[in-house]
Amino acid sequence: MYNMKKLAFLALTSVLSLVSLSAQRIEQTLENGWRFTREDNADFKNQNYDDQKWQEVRVPHDWAIYGPFSKNNDKQNLGIAQDGLAATEHAGRTGGLPFVGTGWYRRSLELPQNLLGKKVMLTFDGAMSHARVYVNGKEVIYWPNGYNTFFVDVTPYVQEGSDNTLAVRLENKHESSRWYPGAGLYRNVHLTIMPDIHIAKWGNRITTPEINKSFARVNVETAVANLDELKDGTIDVFARILDEEGNVISSVKSKKRFYAGITDPIFRTKFKVFNPELWDIDKPNMYTYNVALYRDDKLLDSVSTRFGIRSIELKQNEGFFLNGRKVKFKGVCLHHDLGPLGGAVNVSAMRRQIRIMQDMGANAIRTSHNMPAPEFVKLCDEMGIMLMAESFDSWAGAKVPNGYNLDFNEWHERDLENLIRQYRNAPSIVMWSIGNEVTEQHSYDGAKMAKHLQDICHREDPTRPVTNGMDNPDGVMNSGMAGLLDVAGFNYRPFKLEEAHKRLPQGFILGSETCSTVSSRGVYKFPVVRKAMEKYDDHQSSGYDVEHCGWSNLPEDDWIRHEDLPYAMGEFIWTGFDYLGEPTPYYSNWPSHSSLFGAVDLAGIPKDRFYLYRSHWNKKEHTLHVLPHWTWRGREGKVTPIFVYTSYPSAEVFINGKSQGRKTKDLSIQIEGTEPKVGSQDFTRQKRYRLMWLNTKYEKGTVKVVAYDKNGKVAEVKEMHTAGHPHHIELSVDKKTLDANGKDIAFIRVKVVDKNGNLVPNDDRLIYFNVRGAGHFRAAASGNPASIDLFHKPYHHLFSGELTALVESGTKTGNITFKASAEGVKSATLKLQSLKAE
Ligand code: GAL
Repeated sequence: MYNMKKLAFLALTSVLSLVSLSAQRIEQTLENGWRFTREDNADFKNQNYDDQKWQEVRVPHDWAIYGPFSKNNDKQNLGIAQDGLAATEHAGRTGGLPFVGTGWYRRSLELPQNLLGKKVMLTFDGAMSHARVYVNGKEVIYWPNGYNTFFVDVTPYVQEGSDNTLAVRLENKHESSRWYPGAGLYRNVHLTIMPDIHIAKWGNRITTPEINKSFARVNVETAVANLDELKDGTIDVFARILDEEGNVISSVKSKKRFYAGITDPIFRTKFKVFNPELWDIDKPNMYTYNVALYRDDKLLDSVSTRFGIRSIELKQNEGFFLNGRKVKFKGVCLHHDLGPLGGAVNVSAMRRQIRIMQDMGANAIRTSHNMPAPEFVKLCDEMGIMLMAESFDSWAGAKVPNGYNLDFNEWHERDLENLIRQYRNAPSIVMWSIGNEVTEQHSYDGAKMAKHLQDICHREDPTRPVTNGMDNPDGVMNSGMAGLLDVAGFNYRPFKLEEAHKRLPQGFILGSETCSTVSSRGVYKFPVVRKAMEKYDDHQSSGYDVEHCGWSNLPEDDWIRHEDLPYAMGEFIWTGFDYLGEPTPYYSNWPSHSSLFGAVDLAGIPKDRFYLYRSHWNKKEHTLHVLPHWTWRGREGKVTPIFVYTSYPSAEVFINGKSQGRKTKDLSIQIEGTEPKVGSQDFTRQKRYRLMWLNTKYEKGTVKVVAYDKNGKVAEVKEMHTAGHPHHIELSVDKKTLDANGKDIAFIRVKVVDKNGNLVPNDDRLIYFNVRGAGHFRAAASGNPASIDLFHKPYHHLFSGELTALVESGTKTGNITFKASAEGVKSATLKLQSLKAE
């Protein structure tokens, strides 16, 4: 009986899908045809203004990433909340790039000849910031928050045909951010033309209230806009669920009666999906919900929404469960910038970021401290990463004088609504965050505000828990803020977790932001001592991973608790990748202008710390990494400790064939009694997770590491050699074929090596790039937080012997030749291919 019904549905499905194809709404991403200027003039909004002299740009576009760098760009004179010190000069806190000021974008808008019965909508995925959008000279919307998506119905302002002008004014204020925010239309802009009566924007809400092995209940609500225009009548709702391959696996056709005067009704449909394939971090299976509305057999509108079937649960004294399985967060905080691309959204760059984080063993990302781009959420859905989607870095209390604090009271509800409505069907999102270290933490009013924001989240999405990143443990426990949240998120101070667990009602605690260790790729400082806020003449921090901020700590100080305390839910480290701005501890030390917090540098090249995390987090692959490099002219005979980051329990180190002894991770080390002292050479906790030879002396030659498995058998061997003279350039690339879509990017790692292929670890020569054929040079970055080489110029200095060059596809197919050359070494070329995009 059931099968008969299913067959009937299938037949109907294919008929209806043909109809729906012919009457689909039109969605277009407005990438090309934009003109841009940094001048400001009220006339720019006017339809007849002649913008032909303006720069032609493609959106997404970040106007500030092209520089030039200057210490006077947004030079701040403020105290840093985290360390509570008096105001000091900060050059480089926001990246030293010229994002402050106004910018205008204009383009024409081509619309169909007949707009009768149609609605025209513009959606901005994010515009930095204080966007004012004008259509044919009229202001149609203002949206201050630069990270959030907003949309506007522009039907009353447009005319049929091509004679429409879209103009956008953006303005970024001085002292409005704590990091590089980017500037301009740095996320996509979309035009949607749809029937008058249509499925509302973000109108599908999909929940999976019951999941078991044999079936999942999938409940769907579809909100329809403008239905009152049809007067009384019936509507046929045809709702279907499709699997990954596009097969219809369940469908429901129903008639709904509606009445004049009831605007914007919600249609509810209930499905059962048998033998559901769950969305999970190892297998991110997705389904599609498609809904079509008909009246008198005429298609009104149809929309598809991707979703996943998965359960999340919080259990007292145990923490977070995904699909019934306890999962600890091995998370990273990420800012939105993509290093040398700035804020400008690029899917290849985001995919690469996520891939590198997954290789490190990360299972989650916190979009600190703001709303993510839709492309990022989609990638996390598809790649199986859990997301904590954050909303605000400040509420009404200021962290910087001209930040979102000025808009919070008026805008927070709309901003939260847009964040949640846009992403509430994304399976990757497992938690909403209402803030980060807000100044109101300690106060009763702050607690009330947290309750208010959490209530908005629950109203918009009752299926996900809400957290808040808080760095004042005593304050939030006393004010009541920590106790009222679904999940109390603690930033730093891991030694407070036990007390917090005793005092708070939830029975679990999240490390919403941890670590903030600072290091530079390939740079090592002697003697190797645990330090806080240490500064050096070269503006770098030690690659031995022993340095942190005044308020923060080393990776192991968090690991030991999140591993041993059953109620500790895991952590989100600060940060996965380096980002533009916040060059802590080099607050006032221009040209420092990007962070040293990343496990991976700004060029996307792993630092040593990446391998430390990988050795602990990545349970699928083995890690065997040795540091520092072994090219130390002048250090002969001096103590040069060797650290090994490995997933194996023990290893032996040999220098020029001479054993330096075998070390084994000391698993007996416990939380109690091992609270480290800043400034000492106290590496007790590290001994549980790293293998360290603290007294080895440098001599030119070979370091060999032999790793042993738990049965004492040799599992892996690695060698490192002192490098000879710089000899040639070596290239490697993350992919050899690109999509000819004008925006696919190959990331090419450029190294200078000796004649035997050993990296020359202190080489910082200038490399020139040349790209020919069906692609072009896009940018380069070295990961040196104090380099002010411009990213988009076809030459860049190496940092610790390496850099990354980005080659972008054009829209034509063909071969691409990339060449890197430099004085004194042999150049290298690499062939890529740009193929027709699927
Ligand atoms: C945290 C803050 C982050 C970043 C970090 C640096 O307190 O939430 O945004 O500033 O410190 O350690």
